[in-house]
Amino acid sequence: MRKLNENTITDAVLEQMSGTPNPRLKEIMEAAVRHMHAFAREVNLTPQEWLEGIRFFTEVGQKCTPYRQEFILLSDTLGLSALVGLISDSRTPGIHTDTSLLGPFYRQNSPHFKLGESIAKKTKGKEVVLWGRVVEANGRGIPHASVQVWQTDEAGDYDLQKSNADDMDLRGTLETDSEGRYYFRSVVPAGYSIPMDGPVGEMIRAQNRHGLRPSHVHYLIGAPGHKELVTALYVHGDPHIDSDTVFGVTDSLVVKVSDPDPASPFPNLPGIKYDFTLAAGGKNDASERVGADPSQITKNVASSVR
Ligand code: BEZ
Ligand code: FE
Repeated sequence: MRKLNENTITDAVLEQMSGTPNPRLKEIMEAAVRHMHAFAREVNLTPQEWLEGIRFFTEVGQKCTPYRQEFILLSDTLGLSALVGLISDSRTPGIHTDTSLLGPFYRQNSPHFKLGESIAKKTKGKEVVLWGRVVEANGRGIPHASVQVWQTDEAGDYDLQKSNADDMDLRGTLETDSEGRYYFRSVVPAGYSIPMDGPVGEMIRAQNRHGLRPSHVHYLIGAPGHKELVTALYVHGDPHIDSDTVFGVTDSLVVKVSDPDPASPFPNLPGIKYDFTLAAGGKNDASERVGADPSQITKNVASSVR
C-alpha cells in the first residue's frame, strides 16, 4: 500500500479524480484541490482549526432560507463575487457599463410598473426621479429593454428583511420606451449594514470590519441580442463609498442626486440620471449573474436532495 505523506497526498487525490469525464468539472476540481491543499500547508492548518472551519460552513448553510442567502453573503464579503463579476466583465468585448454585485436581496418576478410610476409603495423618504436611457455602444436607444430595480428604504432596509417579507416594496420591473428611455420615482436609499446576525457577521466582527454598504440602487437590465447587465448606482457623498464591505463600488457607477432638472420627466424632483450601455451579442439570460433570488437556490437544493 502506498505510504502517503503531506507532500504526496495532493497527487494521490488528483490521480483518483483524473477520470472525471466532464473536462470543465475536472479543471475546476483539480485546481480547487491544489489550492486548498496549498492553503492548508501554508498556514499549517491544525485539526482543531479545520473543525472550526467546518462548524463555520455548517452554520453558513443552516442560515440559508428562501429569504436569506448566507453563502452569497460569504462570497460577497470575501470579494469572490466581485472577482467573478470582474473576470466576466473583462471578457465582454466592446463598450458597456461596469457591472456590480447582484447581492442576496434580488428577487425575481418583482411587480411591473409603468414608466413614471413610483416603486415606493409604503416608504416615506426623500422622493427622487431615476431616469436615463438604455443604449447600445453606438448610443442608439434600446426599446423595450427590461429594467429591474431594487433598493433599501430611507432606513437602510430591504423588504425581504421586514416581518412581512412577501410584501414587495422598493423593487419593480419596467420597460424602456421606443427610444430606450426609462424613468421612475422612488426615495433616496440609505446605506446599510449587511446582515450581521449570522456566521458571516461573526467573521466580519472578528476582522474588525464595519460591515456597511454605501447607499445604492440595484439594476438588472436585459434586452434580446445583448448581454444582460447586473449593476448598481452608488450615491456620491456616502461615508462608506470607499470602504464597501462587499467591494461593489467602481468610480463609473458613482452618481450624484442632482437638483431638479427641467429636462427631467419630473422637473420638480431631484434626480439620479444615468445611461446604461449594454454589450452587444452576449446572452440575454441569467448565466452571467453572480447570485440569484434566495428562494430559487433553496428550491434547487431541496429538489436535488430528494
Ligand atoms: C446588496 O447590495 O444588496 C448586498 C450585496 C452584498 C451583500 C449584502 C448586500
Ligand atoms: Fe444592495
